Amino acid sequence: MDTRKEELKSILKKYGQEHLLNNYENLDEMHQKKLLDQIEKINFELVKSLYLSTKEENKTGKDKIEPIEYMDKFKLNDKYKYYENIGKKAIKEGKLAAVTMAGGQGTRLGHNGPKGTYDIGLDSHKSLFELLCDNLKEEGKKYGVTIPWFIMTSKENNKATVEFFEKHKYFGYQKDKNIFFFMQGELPMIDTEGKILIGEDGLIKLAADGHGGIYESLVKNGMTKKMKQLGVEWAFIGGVDNCLVKMVDPVLMGIAIDSKVTVACKSVVKANPHEKVGVFCKRNGKPNVVEYSEITEEMAEATDENGELLYGESHILCNLFSVDAIERMGANPLPYHVAFKKAKYIDKDGNLIVPDSPNAYKFEAFLFDAFGSVDEMAVLRVKREEEFAPVKNSDDAGVDCPKTARNLYKKFYKLD
Ligand code: UTP
Repeated sequence: MDTRKEELKSILKKYGQEHLLNNYENLDEMHQKKLLDQIEKINFELVKSLYLSTKEENKTGKDKIEPIEYMDKFKLNDKYKYYENIGKKAIKEGKLAAVTMAGGQGTRLGHNGPKGTYDIGLDSHKSLFELLCDNLKEEGKKYGVTIPWFIMTSKENNKATVEFFEKHKYFGYQKDKNIFFFMQGELPMIDTEGKILIGEDGLIKLAADGHGGIYESLVKNGMTKKMKQLGVEWAFIGGVDNCLVKMVDPVLMGIAIDSKVTVACKSVVKANPHEKVGVFCKRNGKPNVVEYSEITEEMAEATDENGELLYGESHILCNLFSVDAIERMGANPLPYHVAFKKAKYIDKDGNLIVPDSPNAYKFEAFLFDAFGSVDEMAVLRVKREEEFAPVKNSDDAGVDCPKTARNLYKKFYKLD
């Protein structure tokens, strides 16, 4: 152990992170080993460049942002049936899998446990996971197949998630046969001096690497390989917190297949030009999503000859990918975005510090940054009231909260 520790010490010295071993002697043997394992896995060059990135000016202002073409699901006319038939055939042949991203921390909702276990207050008291699963089962039945379900968790919530599914007998699914769990990656949190933080347990303070970690973790954990073994060619990737998410959509799938694109995304039209959502666009000629803060008021309000917003297609984390595209995306690292957060930590003298304002950087990759790696992508506008009922905030916020999601869900399924 000691030689290993000494070797790591010299690496830490090189990167100015010697403090990580300050409290080593006070840890029990198990934690000592864990800490050394963690240090060994850290990519210190990456951490260094992430810290430098916090000092850089935002360069996105130099990007060329343009509107992107989209189709409206309800203005497809004769083409609707045409696409639907193509998609139906592929689904019946078992070519579709569903992927749910459930690794987020759900800080805004403030639920004690994985977000997917949250009960939005329906009479059935079903959790978000069960509502999603109900939809998958119902759709699978229509096509005579069981849609394989892949669930991304984080190190923080993996155990609680799997235990929840175990307790509910996987809602009729079978573990490792048609439901698979895999964990997303993590990155160390750093302070404003670029020093990696130590958490309350004496170990490195790690945080999930954002929903953009999905591609790499699907590949690294052997999930795309599993998909191929099952004969799956397409995966719908969605969030756990949209209780109206339609993971099985033959029209979307038919469009992707017929248009020979490898990514097809759903959008809903912005509630108003200034709604704070990311919208689909072309960035430097490639498909992308532009944040509301990145476009001017004039751009946000601009309309086309039909009076439709030029930047009106909100990204709702409902995207279909070919499995080959996921594998390609998983091989190319995405840029990380920085967030300044409050994080408890142990200081160099061994004291627990509980900050009352943000003190640490967290780094996250965004799923849509991978869109830029494809030349063409289909965007399909769907109806908000049919497909988008997010649970982001607690009820106090009054928007995108359990109450609004519950009402939308009840309305759609005519539960009143
Ligand atoms: P959000 O960006 O809304 O984050 O995630 P969140 O963690 O649910 O909530 P806040 O921001 O902490 O309040 C959108 C979707 O992406 C997943 C979430 O679980 C959710 O389904 N996600 C997000 C991950 O799976 N991993 C991440 O690292 C981040």
